[in-house]
Amino acid sequence: MLINIKDLKKQFENEKLVTKVLHGLSFVINEGEFVAIMGPSGSGKSTLMHIMGLLDRASEGKYEFADRDVTTMSDNELADLRNSKIGFVFQSFNLLARTTVLDNVKLPLTYAKDKKNIDDRARRVLEDVGLGHRLDYFTNQISGGEKQRVAIARALVNNPSIIFADEPTGNLDSKSGIQIMEILQKLNEVGNTIILVTHEIYTAEHAKRVINVRDGLIVEDRPVKNRRLAHDGDLLK
Ligand SMILES: Nc1ncnc2c1ncn2[C@@H]1O[C@H](COP(=O)(O)OP(=O)(O)O)[C@@H](O)[C@H]1O
Ligand SMILES: [Mg+2]
Repeated sequence: MLINIKDLKKQFENEKLVTKVLHGLSFVINEGEFVAIMGPSGSGKSTLMHIMGLLDRASEGKYEFADRDVTTMSDNELADLRNSKIGFVFQSFNLLARTTVLDNVKLPLTYAKDKKNIDDRARRVLEDVGLGHRLDYFTNQISGGEKQRVAIARALVNNPSIIFADEPTGNLDSKSGIQIMEILQKLNEVGNTIILVTHEIYTAEHAKRVINVRDGLIVEDRPVKNRRLAHDGDLLK
């Protein structure tokens, strides 16, 4: 079990206002899965992803990541685990401006214990996402689809146990979106565990399993029948 969550709850407390967002979710995710967390805007998907990705803590409930109880870990322990095991892709790319594609991807390796061949590793993952010809471009000189592929390369460069992608196609035209889904599917085929957060059924059906969240509760958890396969271009050969 990579992720073991039981009766997980989350509420935000800002001054006197308490907002209850997650009301008791339970599920297990194993290595190699490709899961879509689906639900309408405001249903709690990003809140759940932030907790699963060790960016935030649950208010109540059990959470074991890679067989470790993360609810009792210190912030530093969480950060170490997150930096070594988890890759993130966000809707808004979150790349550094005025920095090259290659340097953006090398950034997570600043914290890596094994600093050997940092340059080679970053180049290799950029080639894997079809950006071998953009290494020295600045991030304001490439398209949205290319930016998201840089973000995927940056998520991959540490060889993480799991990749979380929160609405990764949300800011893209449909052709670039298909290319991103194709990359995620290929990464899963070679063994990567992927959690995709989306409000669209069309996008969710590229995953192998859908967990449907409504108002902070799981209303459905099912395998995807007749999965959609993204084919566009010839990336990640
Ligand atoms: N830091 C926060 N403080 C208070 N409320 C929050 C905070 N973050 C999210 N929420 C609330 O939690 C609910 C779910 O948000 P979110 O997880 O972002 O939903 P989704 O990603 O499904 O659109 C929303 O009502 C949102 O306003
Ligand atoms: Mg969200």
